[in-house]
Amino acid sequence: MTYEARSREQMAVLRGKETVRILALETSCDETAAAVVENGRKIRSNVVFSQIDLHALYGGVVPEIASRAHMEACARVTGEALREAGETLDSIDALAVTQGPGLVGALLTGVNYMKGLAFAAGKPLIPVQHIEGHISANFLAAPELVPPFLCLVVSGGHSHLAEVSDYGEYRLLGRTVDDAAGEAFDKAARVLGLPYPGGPRMDVLAEEGNPEAFELPKPKAPGPYDTSFSGLKTAFLNLVNRLTLRGEELPKADLAASFRAAVCRELTEKAERLIRDRARCGSPGLRMAMAGGVSANRELRRQMAALCAREGVEFFVPPPALCTDNGAMIGSAAYFSLLRREAAPLSLNAEPSLPLF
Ligand code: KG4
Ligand code: ZN
Repeated sequence: MTYEARSREQMAVLRGKETVRILALETSCDETAAAVVENGRKIRSNVVFSQIDLHALYGGVVPEIASRAHMEACARVTGEALREAGETLDSIDALAVTQGPGLVGALLTGVNYMKGLAFAAGKPLIPVQHIEGHISANFLAAPELVPPFLCLVVSGGHSHLAEVSDYGEYRLLGRTVDDAAGEAFDKAARVLGLPYPGGPRMDVLAEEGNPEAFELPKPKAPGPYDTSFSGLKTAFLNLVNRLTLRGEELPKADLAASFRAAVCRELTEKAERLIRDRARCGSPGLRMAMAGGVSANRELRRQMAALCAREGVEFFVPPPALCTDNGAMIGSAAYFSLLRREAAPLSLNAEPSLPLF
């Protein structure tokens, strides 16, 4: 029997199994992360090896360095995830891996590693779309959360307002027309001379500053739920250049706080519009979740929580460690994929632009 035929049989059995344990690997960018997740909801282990130190010297992720570091870390990190969960490759039901989107070399390292492991162990391999993984982190954090719900997806490469209509079913309602929210934070951080990774550092610095110290323009975007950040970024760059030319010491905390407030305002205003439009259409029991690295942002969490409280909408956001890249979110998404889709053939390839919608 071929690997694929056996996989199909195993998947059919797993769909009726009470407890399904998945070993998942995430290598789409600069984190080599592995986890063991039970039934898409329970984290048995979650190991994240961050490559930050390797890339910090260059001020950003260097793709070749990332691929090599993933290659060196895959075996160690997956082994650690199994050990921490008290499992072995034998006791695991299926494997999962991020197929895309992301850096092609980084993705390929993970996909090839897991294909080898799946073939050797004779277990099905479930491919996962990275953003679907981020959204699924909410299922780990809130076991009671079930679709449908709205979700603000904000990461380094994506800014979407989406509807999760069912497990594995997404509808795009709004998106950024230029930069992603995380990208905007990273670029602004660079303007302030903060080291990589900029987003979290901007967030920490902003906590000490006055968000009303500087006024930044209100972005314009075509669709009602679309966002835009490139104008904000340019205005911020011009502001910092003007202050620098005056020879004054930069009030970095105030600058960071003002920029963060402007980005969060843009995101929450669009979320507010969506919530109000839905409420007007008579949608009862609205729920709003957040996903992606930028949902670790303190101010965005506060603003979204306040918005949802004001509008009477139930609000969900994973703890910060599950917002940024991790293996557990991939293991969760893989479980819900297992229930409805087939496993990957051995010809599975990394897809750097794999879409969700
Ligand atoms: O979701 P993620 O870990 O990777 C991608 O799929 O892109 O998101 C990374 C992005 C980076 O741009 C990073 O600067 C940003 O999320 N980020 C933050 C914070 N933590 C991570 N941005 C603002 N505030 C944070 N606390
Ligand atoms: Zn991510």
